[in-house]
Amino acid sequence: TTSTIWGGRFEAGPSAIMEEINASIGFDKRLYAQDIRGSRAHAQMLVAQGILTQADGKAITEGLEAVEAEIVAGTFQFSRALEDIHMNVESRLREKIGDAAGRLHTARSRNDQVATDLKLWVRDALDGLDNALKDLQGALIDRAEEHAGTVMPGFTHLQAAQPVTLGHHLLAYVEMLGRDRSRVRDCRVRMNECPLGAAALAGTSFPIDRNATAKALGFEGPTQNSLDSVSDRDFALEYLSVLSILSVHLSRMAEEMVIWASQQFGFIRVSDDFSSGSSIMPQKRNPDASELVRGKAGRVFGALMGLLTVMKGLPLTYGKDMQEDKEPVFDASDTAELCVTAMTGMFKSVTFNVERMKADAGKGFTTATDLADWLVRVLGKPFRDAHHVTGALVKMAEDKGLNLEDLALADMQSVDAGLTDEIFTVLGVDNSVSSRTSLGGTAPANVLAQVAQARERFLK
Ligand code: ARG
Repeated sequence: TTSTIWGGRFEAGPSAIMEEINASIGFDKRLYAQDIRGSRAHAQMLVAQGILTQADGKAITEGLEAVEAEIVAGTFQFSRALEDIHMNVESRLREKIGDAAGRLHTARSRNDQVATDLKLWVRDALDGLDNALKDLQGALIDRAEEHAGTVMPGFTHLQAAQPVTLGHHLLAYVEMLGRDRSRVRDCRVRMNECPLGAAALAGTSFPIDRNATAKALGFEGPTQNSLDSVSDRDFALEYLSVLSILSVHLSRMAEEMVIWASQQFGFIRVSDDFSSGSSIMPQKRNPDASELVRGKAGRVFGALMGLLTVMKGLPLTYGKDMQEDKEPVFDASDTAELCVTAMTGMFKSVTFNVERMKADAGKGFTTATDLADWLVRVLGKPFRDAHHVTGALVKMAEDKGLNLEDLALADMQSVDAGLTDEIFTVLGVDNSVSSRTSLGGTAPANVLAQVAQARERFLK
């Protein structure tokens, strides 16, 4: 160790620390396929423009294929001294094909290269996420169809509010995920411009064809400003924003599973393969997967906050700070995808306790609104008066320890003489949900129609 105050760390000399802080290969090796794809497109464009010879172009293209094969086979030796994936690939290419490898970097910089690679990676991740979300929606829609007529309590303030159908509740999740998928698509459209050819920051004096590389890599077209091209990480921020809002949704769904799986609720039994036991309490079945989905949202938000903070205040154009973009993107991507897949598995296998849900649906005078609506509709009372009368009836039922539908008509008439026995056709949870046929409402018939629509909208 040296005598400087920070020297204890420096047995191998300061350059080892520089290498440690500077190297990104430990994580950016995940960009290898995108890096090689980008290099291939670049080399082919250079040949087409007469900047590279056919022979060099052929050597580079074949060499890159061989390098990729080594990486896929796991035989590639990644080197930290070579800093990042770009230098690792190029260096191996040189070992394989010699000097031609040195011509690949003509009219290009690692700055436009890394921006291109990461965009290609995020674009693939968005496509994968869209598919995973579609699977989750598919699982929810199937369960919603199965439980179109299953009655459960609907909540506001987590207090029993009005009876709803379980299918309707599950379809609410499908809508949330539908908006997530629409954000995925928006994000993909906005990011789909190719930075390759911006070079270090100012463009290049070589007669490159940026339209050709953009097209070869599946972009809509090239980016329009070289300075912006190498300094822009909006696409990564937007991807993390999309994942964060998705994680809000997943954590809310997960929280409901945790609540519903409790003994106090008893609405669901999470399948064995998504539960775990306790090392001390033999009776326990904990909904761990749901709790982890709820918790992992924090990681995804952290990734977004982290990268926002890295990017804020950076002057144009590239700064090495931006190398900090990859780990949050990769981690949030892995985390969100895992959570989506876990939720799909849980919803496919969860058992709903239909009797318990239905019994609870009527507790807490949840059909009081139906009674008030009847007073308005049949007796022509103003809603506020009907609200008052119904409140008095709820109090009577509560005092007698009865449900509303179990009150005697004569007792009810002592509160309002206009009540007739027709009132019993609107009390009771099945009557209540069946009457909710307004657009987007909870009636079983609506749910079945919504299931069919959801299949059209989301699963085609
Ligand atoms: N590893 C770098 C990154 O992730 C690549 C770009 C480096 N460019 C440079 N001029 N040092 O951002």
